[in-house]
Amino acid sequence: MNIKVISYSFTGNNESLACSIAQELSAEHIKVSEPKPRTMGIIILDMLFKRIPRVQPTPEELNGYDLLLFLGPVWMGQVAAPLRSYLRHLKSHPANYAFISISGGADAGNGKLEGDLEKRTGIKPAAIIDLHIADLLPVSNKVERKDTASYKINNNDITKLTSITMTQLTSAIPRIKG
Ligand SMILES: Cc1cc2nc3c(=O)[nH]c(=O)nc-3n(C[C@H](O)[C@H](O)[C@H](O)COP(=O)(O)O)c2cc1C
Repeated sequence: MNIKVISYSFTGNNESLACSIAQELSAEHIKVSEPKPRTMGIIILDMLFKRIPRVQPTPEELNGYDLLLFLGPVWMGQVAAPLRSYLRHLKSHPANYAFISISGGADAGNGKLEGDLEKRTGIKPAAIIDLHIADLLPVSNKVERKDTASYKINNNDITKLTSITMTQLTSAIPRIKG
C-alpha cells in the first residue's frame, strides 16, 4: 500500500509519533511547515475565526496515494489549523485517510473530531486515533490541563503509542501492511 504520513506539530509530540509510525510502515513522511513562526495568539485566532493558514508543502503533494495518515495536535476540540488546507484539498481530490493525534486529553475525549474531519473533507475517515497525554501520566491525581500542556512524550511513550496506533490502524485498515 502506498502510504503518505503528513504531520504538523507545535511542540514536537505529534512529530515524534509521526516519525515512528512512518518508519513502522516504511511510508513517506512530510512535515508541514509555515512561513512565519506560530504563536499561541495565532493558534487562538485561527481556531476562533476558522482560518486556514498558508503551509508548505502544497496540498497537491498528497495526490496519488492509497492512504493518507494525518498526524497533528487537537486544538479546542478540532484538528490543528495547519492541517486544514490538506483536509480541504480532499474535498476536490477524494482519498482514503485517517487522523491520528497525541493530544492532551485532560477534558476526556475529543468528541467533535469526527464531525470536524467529515465537514472539512466530505469523507468519513478510515480511522480516528485520539491518544491522550493524560493516559501516560500517573493515575494517582486527577489530570488537569496544566499537567498535560507542557508534557513532552519520551522514547517509552513513543514505543507505547506506536504500538497502540499500529494495532488500531491494522484493525481498521487490514491491508495497511500489505
Ligand atoms: C491552544 C491549545 C488548545 C488545545 N486544545 C486541546 C483540546 O481541545 N483537546 C486536547 O485533548 N488537547 C488540547 N490541547 C493539547 C495538545 O493537543 C497537546 O499538548 C499536544 O500533545 C500537542 O501536540 P504537539 O506537541 O504535536 O504540538 C491544546 C493545546 C493548545 C496549545
